[in-house]
Amino acid sequence: MSGDTLIVQEVATRDGFQIEPAFVETAEKIRLIDALAEAGFSRIEVSSFVSPKAVPALADAADVFAGIRRRPGTVYVALVPNPKGAERALAAKVDEINLVASVSDTHNHANMGMSPADSIAGFARIMDSVRGAPVSTNATVATAFGCPFEGDQQADKVVAQVERYLSLGVDGVTLADTTGMANPRQVARLVARILPLVGPERLTLHFHNTRGLGLANVLAAYDAGARRFDAALGGLGGCPFAPGATGNICTEDLVSMAHEMGVPTGLNLDALLGLSRDLPRLVGHDVPGQVAKAGRPCDLHPAPPARAA
Ligand code: COA
Ligand code: ZN
Repeated sequence: MSGDTLIVQEVATRDGFQIEPAFVETAEKIRLIDALAEAGFSRIEVSSFVSPKAVPALADAADVFAGIRRRPGTVYVALVPNPKGAERALAAKVDEINLVASVSDTHNHANMGMSPADSIAGFARIMDSVRGAPVSTNATVATAFGCPFEGDQQADKVVAQVERYLSLGVDGVTLADTTGMANPRQVARLVARILPLVGPERLTLHFHNTRGLGLANVLAAYDAGARRFDAALGGLGGCPFAPGATGNICTEDLVSMAHEMGVPTGLNLDALLGLSRDLPRLVGHDVPGQVAKAGRPCDLHPAPPARAA
C-alpha cells in the first residue's frame, strides 16, 4: 500500500445501524458485511458490545460476528464501552476492540452513564485483560471537535486524552467529530498536534456530515498527513445520545472524491454504489449519499437529440 493511500474503515453496520429506528435483521447485516469485505475494505467496524438496553439495534452483535465470513486481509472491529463489553467482544473473537470515551464530561454521561475518567479507568482494566490475547486495540476520543452540550473542547484536553490512551498501550487512536461540529482549519490544527504522537498508520479521523463539512474535513486532515478515515455506506449513522446527530461521511462519496483526485483507496467503487443503492430497502428510508444518486462523474448521459432548425 503506497503512502498516499487513503484507508477507509467502513462503519455503516455499527455507527449506521445504531441509530436506525427499525431493527435490521441479523442475516441482512451479515450479508452486507460480507459484501463490504468483498468490495475491498481492510477494516470494518461490525457492531458494538454495548448494553442492549442502550442500543437495541445492535443487540445481535455476537450473532453477527458468529455469522460473517472472515475474509483474510480484513480486520473486523467492535466498539466496546466497558469491561463487560470487552469480555463479550473477546468471546465473539473480534480482531480489534474500539474503546470509546468522550472528551466532554456531559456527552460521556449522556452516552456512557459515567465520567470520562471512569470510562478510561475501565479501559485500563480492559488493556490489562487483553494483554497477550490475539486482539488489537483502538481508543476513540469522542466529541474531540466539539460537544453538542458543552460546545468547544480545548485541544489540550484532547491531546491529554490521547496521551492517556497511549500510556495504556492502545495500538490506534481515533479522533471523532461526533455531531459534525469540526471545520477544516480546526481539523488541520488538531491533526498537526496529534500526528507526532500517534503517526499516520495509527491515527483515524471519524467525521459526521451534520453541517455539510465532512469531506472538506477529510481533505484538510489528509493534507495535514492523516490517512485513515471512518465512513458509512450511504452516509448512514449518528450517535443516539447526542441531540441533532446525523450521518457519518458517506463511504462511496469519499471514495469517489479520492479516486477523482488520484488518491488510491483499494476499494471497488462500483460495488459500493450497488450496495448503497440497496440501503433504502434495508433501512426503509432514503439515505444521504450523493454519488449513488447522481452517478460517478464519468457516468455520462446521452446527448439530447439535435433540435430541429
Ligand atoms: N454489554 C451488555 N450488557 C451490559 C454491558 C455491555 N457492555 N455493560 C453493562 N451491561 C448490563 C449490565 O450487565 C446490567 O444488566 P442487568 O440490568 O441485567 O443487571 C445493565 O447493563 C446495567 O449495567 P451498568 O454497568 O449499570 O451499565 P449502565 O446502565 O450504566 O450503562 C453502558 C453503561 C456503558 C453499558 C451503557 O451506557 C452503554 O452501553 N452505552 C453505549 C452507548 C452507545 O453505544 N453509544 C453510541 C456509540 S459511541
Ligand atoms: Zn460516529
